[in-house]
Amino acid sequence: MSEFSAVTEATAPGKIILFGEHAVVYGRPAIAAPISQLRAKATITPSSSNNCIIIAPDLNRHDFLQDLPDADALARAARLVLKAAQLGPPPDVTIHVKSQIPIASGMGSGAAITAAIIRALAQYLDRPDLQTNEMVSALTYEVEKIHHGTPSGIDNTVVAYEQPIYFVRQSPQNQIDPFKVAVPLRFVVADTGVRSSTKVAVGDVRRQYNQQPARFAHIFDECGRIAKIARQAIETGDTQQVGKLMTENHAWLQQMTVSSPELDNLVGAALQAGALGAKLSGAGRGGNMIALVEDDAGETAVCAALQRAGATAILATILA
Ligand code: MEV
Repeated sequence: MSEFSAVTEATAPGKIILFGEHAVVYGRPAIAAPISQLRAKATITPSSSNNCIIIAPDLNRHDFLQDLPDADALARAARLVLKAAQLGPPPDVTIHVKSQIPIASGMGSGAAITAAIIRALAQYLDRPDLQTNEMVSALTYEVEKIHHGTPSGIDNTVVAYEQPIYFVRQSPQNQIDPFKVAVPLRFVVADTGVRSSTKVAVGDVRRQYNQQPARFAHIFDECGRIAKIARQAIETGDTQQVGKLMTENHAWLQQMTVSSPELDNLVGAALQAGALGAKLSGAGRGGNMIALVEDDAGETAVCAALQRAGATAILATILA
Protein backbone atom coordinates (compact mmCIF):
# COMPACT_ATOMS: atom_id res chain seq x y z
CA MET A 1 0.00 0.00 0.00
CA SER A 2 1.34 3.42 -0.86
CA GLU A 3 1.95 6.27 1.57
CA PHE A 4 -0.65 8.23 -0.43
CA SER A 5 -4.11 7.00 0.30
CA ALA A 6 -6.86 9.48 -0.53
CA VAL A 7 -8.91 9.02 -3.69
CA THR A 8 -8.36 12.00 -5.98
CA GLU A 9 -10.03 13.05 -9.18
CA ALA A 10 -9.59 15.81 -11.72
CA THR A 11 -11.29 16.84 -14.94
CA ALA A 12 -10.42 18.78 -18.08
CA PRO A 13 -12.69 20.24 -20.77
CA GLY A 14 -13.04 19.65 -24.49
CA LYS A 15 -12.32 22.48 -26.90
CA ILE A 16 -13.30 24.08 -30.19
CA ILE A 17 -11.05 25.97 -32.56
CA LEU A 18 -12.78 29.16 -33.68
CA PHE A 19 -10.11 30.26 -36.13
CA GLY A 20 -6.79 29.16 -37.57
CA GLU A 21 -6.48 25.38 -37.22
CA HIS A 22 -3.65 23.86 -39.28
CA ALA A 23 -2.21 27.31 -40.11
CA VAL A 24 -1.36 27.52 -36.39
CA VAL A 25 1.08 24.62 -36.85
CA TYR A 26 3.01 26.96 -39.21
CA GLY A 27 3.20 29.86 -36.78
CA ARG A 28 0.04 31.74 -37.74
CA PRO A 29 -2.29 32.91 -34.93
CA ALA A 30 -5.38 30.92 -33.97
CA ILE A 31 -8.27 31.24 -31.53
CA ALA A 32 -9.62 28.43 -29.37
CA ALA A 33 -12.15 28.12 -26.57
CA PRO A 34 -12.91 25.42 -23.99
CA ILE A 35 -16.18 23.48 -24.02
CA SER A 36 -16.67 23.19 -20.31
CA GLN A 37 -19.84 21.08 -20.50
CA LEU A 38 -17.95 18.17 -22.10
CA ARG A 39 -15.20 16.84 -19.84
CA ALA A 40 -12.69 14.05 -19.34
CA LYS A 41 -12.25 12.76 -15.79
CA ALA A 42 -9.43 10.80 -14.17
CA THR A 43 -9.82 9.17 -10.75
CA ILE A 44 -6.89 7.79 -8.78
CA THR A 45 -7.67 5.07 -6.24
CA PRO A 46 -5.11 3.35 -3.99
CA SER A 47 -4.84 -0.31 -4.93
CA SER A 48 -3.58 -3.38 -3.10
CA SER A 49 -2.50 -5.09 -6.30
CA ASN A 50 1.18 -4.05 -6.20
CA ASN A 51 0.71 -2.39 -9.54
CA CYS A 52 -0.30 0.77 -11.29
CA ILE A 53 -3.35 -0.06 -13.39
CA ILE A 54 -4.90 2.13 -16.08
CA ILE A 55 -8.58 1.56 -16.85
CA ALA A 56 -10.35 3.46 -19.62
CA PRO A 57 -13.65 1.76 -20.55
CA ASP A 58 -14.39 4.25 -23.39
CA LEU A 59 -11.12 3.28 -25.02
CA ASN A 60 -11.55 -0.41 -24.19
CA ARG A 61 -8.44 -0.29 -22.04
CA HIS A 62 -7.44 -2.18 -18.89
CA ASP A 63 -3.65 -2.38 -18.58
CA PHE A 64 -0.75 -2.51 -16.17
CA LEU A 65 1.36 0.62 -16.61
CA GLN A 66 4.53 -1.49 -16.63
CA ASP A 67 3.32 -3.39 -19.73
CA LEU A 68 2.65 -0.29 -21.81
CA PRO A 69 5.11 1.23 -24.28
CA ASP A 70 6.08 4.88 -23.93
CA ALA A 71 4.27 5.60 -27.19
CA ASP A 72 1.00 4.91 -25.39
CA ALA A 73 -0.61 8.26 -24.54
CA LEU A 74 -2.17 7.19 -21.22
CA ALA A 75 1.08 5.58 -20.04
CA ARG A 76 3.13 8.56 -21.19
CA ALA A 77 0.89 10.96 -19.25
CA ALA A 78 1.29 8.94 -16.05
CA ARG A 79 5.04 8.46 -16.49
CA LEU A 80 5.66 12.15 -17.14
CA VAL A 81 4.08 13.04 -13.80
CA LEU A 82 5.96 10.30 -11.96
CA LYS A 83 9.22 11.46 -13.55
CA ALA A 84 8.56 15.12 -12.74
CA ALA A 85 7.72 14.10 -9.16
CA GLN A 86 11.02 12.19 -9.06
CA LEU A 87 9.25 9.20 -7.66
CA GLY A 88 10.91 5.80 -7.99
CA PRO A 89 8.58 2.93 -8.89
CA PRO A 90 4.97 3.89 -9.73
CA PRO A 91 2.56 3.94 -6.78
CA ASP A 92 0.07 1.09 -6.39
CA VAL A 93 -2.99 2.82 -7.77
CA THR A 94 -5.77 2.45 -10.27
CA ILE A 95 -6.07 5.33 -12.73
CA HIS A 96 -9.63 5.30 -14.02
CA VAL A 97 -10.37 7.47 -17.05
CA LYS A 98 -13.79 8.44 -18.34
CA SER A 99 -14.64 10.99 -21.02
CA GLN A 100 -17.75 12.68 -22.38
CA ILE A 101 -15.76 14.18 -25.26
CA PRO A 102 -16.16 12.29 -28.53
CA ILE A 103 -12.89 10.68 -29.64
CA ALA A 104 -11.18 11.71 -32.91
CA SER A 105 -13.72 14.42 -33.57
CA GLY A 106 -11.71 17.65 -33.32
CA MET A 107 -12.77 18.40 -29.75
CA GLY A 108 -9.50 17.76 -27.99
CA SER A 109 -10.45 14.51 -26.30
CA GLY A 110 -6.82 13.28 -26.26
CA ALA A 111 -5.52 16.47 -24.66
CA ALA A 112 -8.36 16.54 -22.12
CA ILE A 113 -7.80 12.92 -21.05
CA THR A 114 -4.08 13.58 -20.68
CA ALA A 115 -4.61 16.79 -18.69
CA ALA A 116 -7.09 15.04 -16.38
CA ILE A 117 -4.63 12.20 -15.69
CA ILE A 118 -1.79 14.65 -15.02
CA ARG A 119 -3.87 16.77 -12.64
CA ALA A 120 -5.35 13.81 -10.76
CA LEU A 121 -2.02 12.04 -10.34
CA ALA A 122 -0.20 15.23 -9.29
CA GLN A 123 -2.96 15.84 -6.75
CA TYR A 124 -2.70 12.25 -5.49
CA LEU A 125 1.05 12.69 -5.05
CA ASP A 126 0.40 15.96 -3.24
CA ARG A 127 2.45 18.00 -5.73
CA PRO A 128 0.78 21.41 -6.25
CA ASP A 129 3.78 22.48 -8.36
CA LEU A 130 2.76 19.88 -10.95
CA GLN A 131 -0.87 21.03 -10.97
CA THR A 132 -0.35 24.58 -12.25
CA ASN A 133 -1.95 25.36 -15.62
CA GLU A 134 1.48 26.02 -17.06
CA MET A 135 2.86 22.65 -15.93
CA VAL A 136 -0.25 20.71 -16.97
CA SER A 137 -0.10 22.37 -20.40
CA ALA A 138 3.63 21.65 -20.82
CA LEU A 139 3.29 17.97 -19.83
CA THR A 140 0.17 17.53 -21.98
CA TYR A 141 2.10 18.97 -24.92
CA GLU A 142 4.67 16.18 -24.54
CA VAL A 143 1.88 13.61 -24.84
CA GLU A 144 0.27 15.47 -27.78
CA LYS A 145 3.42 14.69 -29.74
CA ILE A 146 2.24 11.05 -29.82
CA HIS A 147 -1.06 12.07 -31.43
CA HIS A 148 0.79 13.90 -34.16
CA GLY A 149 4.43 14.78 -34.58
CA THR A 150 4.16 18.56 -34.83
CA PRO A 151 1.47 19.82 -32.44
CA SER A 152 1.22 23.59 -32.36
CA GLY A 153 0.42 23.53 -28.63
CA ILE A 154 -3.02 25.09 -28.97
CA ASP A 155 -4.99 22.04 -27.74
CA ASN A 156 -2.97 21.47 -24.55
CA THR A 157 -3.02 25.21 -23.81
CA VAL A 158 -6.78 25.75 -24.10
CA VAL A 159 -7.56 22.53 -22.25
CA ALA A 160 -5.13 23.24 -19.39
CA TYR A 161 -6.02 26.94 -18.92
CA GLU A 162 -9.72 26.44 -19.66
CA GLN A 163 -10.25 29.90 -21.09
CA PRO A 164 -10.55 31.40 -24.58
CA ILE A 165 -7.10 32.01 -26.02
CA TYR A 166 -5.45 33.76 -28.90
CA PHE A 167 -2.53 31.49 -29.61
CA VAL A 168 0.69 31.85 -31.54
CA ARG A 169 3.04 28.90 -31.49
CA GLN A 170 6.07 29.41 -29.19
CA SER A 171 5.54 33.11 -28.66
CA PRO A 172 6.36 33.90 -25.97
CA GLN A 173 7.27 30.50 -24.58
CA ASN A 174 4.54 28.98 -22.43
CA GLN A 175 2.55 32.18 -22.04
CA ILE A 176 -1.06 32.50 -22.98
CA ASP A 177 -2.82 35.46 -24.49
CA PRO A 178 -6.37 35.56 -23.13
CA PHE A 179 -8.69 38.13 -24.66
CA LYS A 180 -11.90 39.95 -23.86
CA VAL A 181 -15.21 38.78 -25.33
CA ALA A 182 -17.21 42.02 -25.60
CA VAL A 183 -20.55 40.40 -26.45
CA PRO A 184 -21.24 36.73 -25.61
CA LEU A 185 -21.02 34.53 -28.70
CA ARG A 186 -23.46 31.65 -29.13
CA PHE A 187 -22.18 28.61 -30.94
CA VAL A 188 -23.82 25.43 -32.08
CA VAL A 189 -21.40 22.50 -32.32
CA ALA A 190 -22.43 19.58 -34.51
CA ASP A 191 -20.79 16.23 -35.11
CA THR A 192 -20.59 14.63 -38.58
CA GLY A 193 -20.27 11.25 -36.85
CA VAL A 194 -17.15 10.61 -38.97
CA ARG A 195 -14.05 9.90 -36.88
CA SER A 196 -10.80 11.23 -38.24
CA SER A 197 -7.16 11.18 -37.26
CA THR A 198 -5.45 14.49 -36.50
CA LYS A 199 -2.15 12.85 -37.38
CA VAL A 200 -3.34 11.96 -40.89
CA ALA A 201 -4.89 15.40 -41.57
CA VAL A 202 -1.84 17.28 -40.26
CA GLY A 203 0.46 14.94 -42.23
CA ASP A 204 -1.51 15.52 -45.46
CA VAL A 205 -1.34 19.28 -45.05
CA ARG A 206 2.42 18.98 -44.44
CA ARG A 207 2.84 16.92 -47.65
CA GLN A 208 0.87 19.44 -49.70
CA TYR A 209 2.80 22.33 -48.17
CA ASN A 210 6.06 20.64 -49.15
CA GLN A 211 4.78 20.15 -52.71
CA GLN A 212 3.31 23.65 -53.10
CA PRO A 213 5.04 25.86 -50.53
CA ALA A 214 4.03 29.23 -52.00
CA ARG A 215 0.36 28.31 -52.38
CA PHE A 216 0.10 26.85 -48.89
CA ALA A 217 2.04 29.72 -47.31
CA HIS A 218 -0.54 32.03 -48.87
CA ILE A 219 -3.42 29.93 -47.49
CA PHE A 220 -1.83 29.94 -44.01
CA ASP A 221 -1.28 33.71 -44.22
CA GLU A 222 -4.95 34.23 -45.05
CA CYS A 223 -6.02 32.07 -42.10
CA GLY A 224 -3.67 34.04 -39.84
CA ARG A 225 -5.03 37.35 -41.14
CA ILE A 226 -8.57 36.12 -40.46
CA ALA A 227 -7.68 35.06 -36.89
CA LYS A 228 -6.14 38.46 -36.22
CA ILE A 229 -9.15 40.46 -37.36
CA ALA A 230 -11.50 37.95 -35.73
CA ARG A 231 -9.86 38.73 -32.40
CA GLN A 232 -10.60 42.43 -32.91
CA ALA A 233 -14.17 41.62 -33.93
CA ILE A 234 -14.64 39.51 -30.78
CA GLU A 235 -13.10 42.24 -28.61
CA THR A 236 -15.33 44.93 -30.09
CA GLY A 237 -18.51 42.84 -30.16
CA ASP A 238 -18.86 42.79 -33.96
CA THR A 239 -20.71 39.46 -34.07
CA GLN A 240 -21.70 39.73 -37.76
CA GLN A 241 -18.04 40.11 -38.69
CA VAL A 242 -17.03 37.11 -36.53
CA GLY A 243 -19.56 35.00 -38.43
CA LYS A 244 -18.37 36.17 -41.85
CA LEU A 245 -14.77 35.43 -40.93
CA MET A 246 -15.67 31.90 -39.80
CA THR A 247 -17.22 31.11 -43.18
CA GLU A 248 -14.20 32.63 -44.92
CA ASN A 249 -11.88 30.50 -42.78
CA HIS A 250 -13.85 27.40 -43.78
CA ALA A 251 -13.22 28.17 -47.47
CA TRP A 252 -9.46 28.24 -46.85
CA LEU A 253 -9.70 24.97 -44.92
CA GLN A 254 -11.43 23.48 -47.98
CA GLN A 255 -8.44 24.65 -50.04
CA MET A 256 -6.20 22.77 -47.61
CA THR A 257 -8.35 19.67 -48.34
CA VAL A 258 -9.18 19.15 -44.68
CA SER A 259 -12.93 19.58 -45.07
CA SER A 260 -15.12 16.68 -46.19
CA PRO A 261 -18.53 16.24 -47.87
CA GLU A 262 -20.08 15.65 -44.44
CA LEU A 263 -18.55 18.81 -42.95
CA ASP A 264 -19.49 20.89 -46.01
CA ASN A 265 -23.02 19.53 -45.80
CA LEU A 266 -23.42 20.62 -42.15
CA VAL A 267 -21.74 23.99 -42.76
CA GLY A 268 -24.11 24.60 -45.72
CA ALA A 269 -27.17 23.55 -43.72
CA ALA A 270 -26.27 25.90 -40.84
CA LEU A 271 -25.70 28.87 -43.16
CA GLN A 272 -28.93 28.21 -45.01
CA ALA A 273 -30.79 28.14 -41.70
CA GLY A 274 -29.49 31.63 -40.90
CA ALA A 275 -26.23 31.04 -39.00
CA LEU A 276 -24.00 34.13 -39.02
CA GLY A 277 -21.08 31.92 -39.98
CA ALA A 278 -19.96 28.29 -39.94
CA LYS A 279 -16.80 26.26 -40.32
CA LEU A 280 -15.19 22.98 -39.47
CA SER A 281 -13.40 22.97 -36.11
CA GLY A 282 -10.20 21.10 -35.32
CA ALA A 283 -8.24 18.86 -37.65
CA GLY A 284 -11.17 18.27 -40.04
CA ARG A 285 -11.85 15.41 -42.50
CA GLY A 286 -14.70 14.55 -40.13
CA GLY A 287 -15.46 15.39 -36.53
CA ASN A 288 -17.23 18.59 -35.60
CA MET A 289 -18.25 21.85 -37.19
CA ILE A 290 -19.30 25.03 -35.41
CA ALA A 291 -21.93 27.62 -36.33
CA LEU A 292 -22.36 31.09 -34.84
CA VAL A 293 -25.98 32.03 -34.11
CA GLU A 294 -27.51 35.35 -33.16
CA ASP A 295 -30.15 34.47 -30.56
CA ASP A 296 -32.53 31.78 -29.24
CA ALA A 297 -34.54 31.67 -32.45
CA GLY A 298 -31.35 31.37 -34.52
CA GLU A 299 -30.11 28.57 -32.31
CA THR A 300 -33.37 26.63 -32.63
CA ALA A 301 -33.45 27.01 -36.42
CA VAL A 302 -29.79 26.04 -36.88
CA CYS A 303 -30.04 23.05 -34.50
CA ALA A 304 -33.11 21.77 -36.39
CA ALA A 305 -31.38 22.22 -39.76
CA LEU A 306 -28.27 20.40 -38.55
CA GLN A 307 -30.37 17.55 -37.23
CA ARG A 308 -32.18 17.24 -40.59
CA ALA A 309 -28.81 17.34 -42.36
CA GLY A 310 -27.65 14.28 -40.40
CA ALA A 311 -25.59 15.63 -37.48
CA THR A 312 -25.06 12.78 -35.01
CA ALA A 313 -24.72 15.05 -31.95
CA ILE A 314 -25.47 18.72 -31.43
CA LEU A 315 -24.72 21.01 -28.51
CA ALA A 316 -25.05 24.71 -27.87
CA THR A 317 -22.39 26.66 -26.02
CA ILE A 318 -21.76 30.31 -25.16
CA LEU A 319 -18.38 32.01 -25.29
CA ALA A 320 -18.43 34.85 -22.79
C1 MEV B 1 -6.09 20.40 -33.81
O1 MEV B 1 -7.03 20.69 -32.79
C2 MEV B 1 -5.52 21.68 -34.35
C3 MEV B 1 -4.50 21.49 -35.47
O2 MEV B 1 -4.15 22.81 -35.89
C4 MEV B 1 -3.29 20.77 -35.01
C5 MEV B 1 -2.41 21.56 -34.04
O3 MEV B 1 -2.57 22.76 -33.93
O4 MEV B 1 -1.55 20.94 -33.41
C6 MEV B 1 -5.10 20.77 -36.66
